[in-house]
Parts: sequence; C-alpha cells; structure tokens
Amino acid sequence: MRDTKVTDCYIIELKKIEGQDARGSLSVIEKNVIPFESKRVYYLYDVPSDAKRGGHAHKELYQFLIPLCGSFDVVLNDGYSKKTFTLNKPNKGLLICPGIWRELENFSSGAVCLVLASEVYDESDYIRDFMAFKKCK
Ligand code: TYD
Repeated sequence: MRDTKVTDCYIIELKKIEGQDARGSLSVIEKNVIPFESKRVYYLYDVPSDAKRGGHAHKELYQFLIPLCGSFDVVLNDGYSKKTFTLNKPNKGLLICPGIWRELENFSSGAVCLVLASEVYDESDYIRDFMAFKKCK
C-alpha cells in the first residue's frame, strides 16, 4: 500500500472560460492539467442525500473528482488523519492519490460527481475493509 497522506490530495482549479455575452461558462481538462492520463470516466448521480458512496481505498488508482452539478463532501482518511473537502464548483476538482480511504456524503439534490480515473476498472485494486486498510498503512 502506498504511504500517501491526506495532504497529498488537493484541489485543482480548472480554467473557466466565461463569455462576455451571458452564454455561460466552459471548463477544460486537457493534458497536464491533472497528474495522470485518464483511462476511464464515470459519474455518480441520483444519489439520495442520506447515502454514502466510496467506503474504500485504491492501491494504485489516481482519481480526479469534479462536482459537475450541485455539491457533496469527500472525507479522506490516510489511516492517521482525516480531511473533508466540500466540492461545489464545477471548475474545482479534487485529486485523490492511491492509498487513501474516501467517503462521499451529503449529496445535494441533483448533484453529479464526474470521476476521471487513471486505470480501467479493476476490483483487485480496491480495499473495501477499513481495518485491512489500516493494517496496510
Ligand atoms: P464503487 O466503486 O464501489 O462505487 P462508489 O465508490 O461510488 O460507492 O462501484 C459500485 C459498483 O459499480 C461496483 O459493483 C463496481 C461497479 N463499477 C464498475 O463496474 N465499473 C466502474 O468503473 C466502477 C467505478 C464501478
């Protein structure tokens, strides 16, 4: 398990292109904006306000979470320290390193969480047992 800390996870602000003529905003994620090449994109939606997503860590996977719509909290835990990020701006995403336990909660109505991932889906990369996670850190 990677010896990463919650302090290795951070917000990346995306360029926001705003028209001069009230046509709305546009943000871009292109090469070198995030520190990995995305091999997978998925999104969470229709999440009830009392539901929790996540509840696991990854051994090697990097992820970048963007609140495309609405807001939610991401609680990170490296086995020693916890840190909560509230994501509520579509031009500010959270980079999560491997080896970090995460919970996503407090989803607002209609919230959509877009996730860019560094690898294709691989269940063997997950650690879904918190005590097993703590032992590895
Ligand atoms: P999971 O990663 O546990 O979701 P979350 O962290 O949001 O709570 O995945 C939920 C289910 O979806 C699980 O059965 C695996 C499946 N899944 C895929 O098939 N492909 C994927 O890319 C992802 C992220 C999940």
